[in-house]
Amino acid sequence: MRSLIDILDFSPEELQELIDTANDIIEHPAFYSDKCRGRKLATLFYEPSTRTRLSFEAAMYELGGNVLGFSEANSSSAAKGESVADTAKTVSCYADIIAMRHPKEGAPLVAAMNASIPVINAGDGGHNHPTQTLADLLTIYREKGGFENLTVGFCGDLKFGRTVHSLISALSRYKGLKVVLISPVELKLPSYVKKEVLAARSIPYIQTTDLESIMPELDILYMTRVQRERFFNEEDYLRLKDSYILTPEKLKNAKQDLAILHPLPRVNEISVAIDDDPRACYFKQVLYGKYMRMALILKLLKEAGRL
Ligand code: CP
Repeated sequence: MRSLIDILDFSPEELQELIDTANDIIEHPAFYSDKCRGRKLATLFYEPSTRTRLSFEAAMYELGGNVLGFSEANSSSAAKGESVADTAKTVSCYADIIAMRHPKEGAPLVAAMNASIPVINAGDGGHNHPTQTLADLLTIYREKGGFENLTVGFCGDLKFGRTVHSLISALSRYKGLKVVLISPVELKLPSYVKKEVLAARSIPYIQTTDLESIMPELDILYMTRVQRERFFNEEDYLRLKDSYILTPEKLKNAKQDLAILHPLPRVNEISVAIDDDPRACYFKQVLYGKYMRMALILKLLKEAGRL
């Protein structure tokens, strides 16, 4: 059974196929409005979400399908101690496809190993968030026309920011990528990502704490919030939370065609004064996420023989 647990589960050709489908949905929404009639998506969210859960639900409704699920662990039998494996087997009796968010790294993989329907990782702890990467890729594709020869700056919480880990993996397969890692020392990109992705593919990268000096080099600036929910110590969070705040002043030396992305939610790391700058792409990213999730649901249901 084909699932999406890690963005590398899909080849670059398959990602392009999803981008092409999403672009076609944007152009011809009526053609897709009945494709999932009679099919059900289960959204199993053990952690808070606005964009991912609601965009999955909107995606399924716009395909003519239905949605069931829960939005917090406490309203499911997880509160009584039910395992992820048993939950996946149970939900396989009710739905055609699952989107799961869980605070524990690897939980969606356990679900996929036990479900008889496709499982989509909608974010697992500080590990991966492949469907956010689908939204990021469509945004980059529409802004830049492709993925080659880009210098991409990742700024903020690179340690716990699962969207960063997934996007670096996805971009690592395209030619000419240069990566700039901008973070406080305490929130550097985990060594396993540097070793298994950047070093393994000989991708040039630099690590710095200084956003402004590197700004003129960047084609893409991917801002992230400091992930309060992953800290063991509130004092550390308070000390680090405002390490980077992007303001119009800090964009003075940026390229005119820079694309500013952020997976959202935003806390304080991008000033609202930037929202009207044509380089701000983060609300487009939200919309593109819905179209990519529509394309993904179609692909996985087709491969599972459920469409
Ligand atoms: N980007 C993202 O995952 O947002 P939510 O946590 O609101 O789903």
